[in-house]
Amino acid sequence: MFTTIVSADPTEFSGKRVVITGGSRGIGAAVAQRLLDGGATVVTTARTATDETPKASTFIRGDISTPAGVQAFAASALGELGGVDIVVNNAGAARAYLDGISSIPDEEWIDALNLNYLSAVRLNNALLPALREAGAGSTIINISSAAALLPSPPLAHYGAAKAALNVYGKALAAEVAPAGIRVATILPGNVSTPGGDAIRQNFADAMGVPLSDLDTNNPLGRPGDPRDVAEAVAFLASGRAQWITGVTLNIDGGELPAI
Ligand SMILES: NC(=O)c1ccc[n+]([C@@H]2O[C@H](COP(=O)([O-])OP(=O)(O)OC[C@H]3O[C@@H](n4cnc5c(N)ncnc54)[C@H](OP(=O)(O)O)[C@@H]3O)[C@@H](O)[C@H]2O)c1
Repeated sequence: MFTTIVSADPTEFSGKRVVITGGSRGIGAAVAQRLLDGGATVVTTARTATDETPKASTFIRGDISTPAGVQAFAASALGELGGVDIVVNNAGAARAYLDGISSIPDEEWIDALNLNYLSAVRLNNALLPALREAGAGSTIINISSAAALLPSPPLAHYGAAKAALNVYGKALAAEVAPAGIRVATILPGNVSTPGGDAIRQNFADAMGVPLSDLDTNNPLGRPGDPRDVAEAVAFLASGRAQWITGVTLNIDGGELPAI
């Protein structure tokens, strides 16, 4: 049996100002809670707060799928925090098109790019001056997906957007490294969250099997817990990862086959 809860050093992120998109539930909420437990000050955004949204975070309602939405959120977050040290671009979503790639409408490709890729580019652009001011040690973490490396036809638009995020993260890491800013990209596999479970339920329904059947092939024997991803974010955002940048890290229980 796995233990996914570790006790956080309550001072590790003391004084750190954190911005997290999609922090209302799922992976984003777990990341927010993990960094709060480490002593950080956290601002999150989503279109709707939920019971999972950490109470100790500041929640700013917003839609980051548009340039104006990102600008509004960046301004509010900086106003709230007075600066920023850690940015976690986590918001994302996908709709599965079970009839295959040619059934994915043009606007869905655009939506997927706006939410899963360009929201991160736009938010990082808006926050980079403040990150540069914060100086060496500040960190950007982009949440991508295993779908970027192992795409399925019904989620081709989503996988393509996340693959773009991987490439962008590598380029950004090279550009900001001289300022001591680090960039990491995390690729979760199947993690049990409201959004992830809803997508997988589509596939389970199409196959006529229960959702739990989809997780039986995971080498470590279970789907991910959002806290598994949050631990990786906490490590990569911490001083313990001070010589790590430009990486893509799979957090998937071994789901992606070795190449
Ligand atoms: N769970 C998995 O198996 C899995 C696997 C690979 C990658 N990921 C990635 O991990 C990240 C988190 O996913 P999750 O599984 O935790 O999903 P989730 O439970 O659906 O949570 C997604 C979060 O993003 C927010 N969001 C969505 N659209 C938004 C918008 N337009 N503006 C602002 N916020 C928005 C949601 O809130 P609102 O809807 O209220 O706005 C919510 O807070 C995503 O980038 C996802 O692609 C997840």
